[in-house]
Amino acid sequence: MSEQARRYSAVAIVLHWAIAFAILLMIPLGWWMGDMAEDGVVSDGIFRAYQLHKSIGLTVLALSLVRLAWRLLNPPPPLPAHMPGWERFIAKAIHWAFYALMIGLPLTGWLYVSAGWSEHDDQPLLVTTHWFGLFVVPHLFGLPAAGADVREAVADTAMSAHSLMAWGALVLAALHAAAALKHHVFDKDEVLADMVPGVKPPFQTEPPAKDPIRLAVLGVGLSITAVALIAALFAWADMADGSQAAPQQQSTIAITEPTPTAPDASAPVANGWRVDAARSSIGFGFTYTDDINGEARFNGRFTRWRADIVFNPDDLANSAANVTIETASATDGVAMHDRALPGPEWFDAAAHPTASFRTRSITHLGGANYRAEGELTIRGRSREVELPFTLTIEGDRANMTGQTSIDRRDFDIGKDTDADDSISRDIEISIRVEATRAS
Ligand code: HEM
Repeated sequence: MSEQARRYSAVAIVLHWAIAFAILLMIPLGWWMGDMAEDGVVSDGIFRAYQLHKSIGLTVLALSLVRLAWRLLNPPPPLPAHMPGWERFIAKAIHWAFYALMIGLPLTGWLYVSAGWSEHDDQPLLVTTHWFGLFVVPHLFGLPAAGADVREAVADTAMSAHSLMAWGALVLAALHAAAALKHHVFDKDEVLADMVPGVKPPFQTEPPAKDPIRLAVLGVGLSITAVALIAALFAWADMADGSQAAPQQQSTIAITEPTPTAPDASAPVANGWRVDAARSSIGFGFTYTDDINGEARFNGRFTRWRADIVFNPDDLANSAANVTIETASATDGVAMHDRALPGPEWFDAAAHPTASFRTRSITHLGGANYRAEGELTIRGRSREVELPFTLTIEGDRANMTGQTSIDRRDFDIGKDTDADDSISRDIEISIRVEATRAS
């Protein structure tokens, strides 16, 4: 261990400012991403913002560990002799609390993404982290393979801690900056000048001898920090632009009046239902397996579809649903997937812009349980599909949820892309409809 220095080393100063500015940038970026996700915005920009946040955050973790090791090996300059004991105690406590946050904040973020559970949708969402697009960062503790309850609990705890620590970092930063200014302005000592290159201590001292290596490390280190920060700010501005491009809210479900496309054109329109777009969804789920992360689950949905529904529980023979889905609206929130899904390997939206499901019969199984049988057509290929669902009708409101599973090979979806079967063949379809009586 080296002897206690008279001033901070150039490495300590560069790491101090790189970490400080990164954290100050990361906090509003984290809040912004969270707000976007909470509003259901799914876009390339948001996906890239998450990747940027995770990449900078993991860099902060690495730099903080280096900074901690550096500090243990190179003790900082002593606190000014005039400082009373209580102030020394608080100064030291704040410094160590900072180290705890610099390491705890990124670790809890990493833990959260490893759990692969979305706090916003309250469902599994495992996204691979690419460090600045250069390599894949593994998930921690094999969490993706854990049960849903464990993943949800870890995600909840990790994100609460992450959020709390971000506030903690802001409070500590304010106290820390106020204390440094107090030293400079009122105590007129060298505390602030020690850490801010170019600032002279408020009293006359013999200037330290110029050290070219120290100046070079400071110059290069602080310049890289400044360039990286400016680049991150530009990238964020670009992502914010991109996030406007495809907000999910834009794509509302087309709400239709019941139409004569129901099986019996003479069926009384009185049994028509109007879909409540905001509370309804058609989702799909699949798994992706690779050697690094094991099995990852993805959940997506179609953001544009319409359903013509005629339904009367006492007249199932004349009840029917015709659903038409815009295949180009498939999204699972992962930009790479969202770009690929409409392409020729997957939904081939250019040649087959819509997929459809038309019921042929609906059977009451008892209680709230029903089964619809009908024809599902995707990419021009039709297959008979059974859709078990539950339905409750209270007054003029109906609530329906149903799940089924299809083999994507039946529809030629992704047949050439994944000879290794990394993407599951079984695709789960989940449907949730809230509707009100149209007439
Ligand atoms: C210096 C390090 C970091 C800081 C200062 C930071 C800050 C923040 C903040 C302030 C939030 C918003 C929390 C809230 O909504 O209350 C957030 C969210 C988040 N952070 Fe970090 N973070 C850091 C590192 C990381 C790392 C290393 C990862 C992952 C590898 C990560 C992943 C996330 C994720 C996924 C969210 C959730 C956004 C959402 O969906 O609501 N963070 N972060």
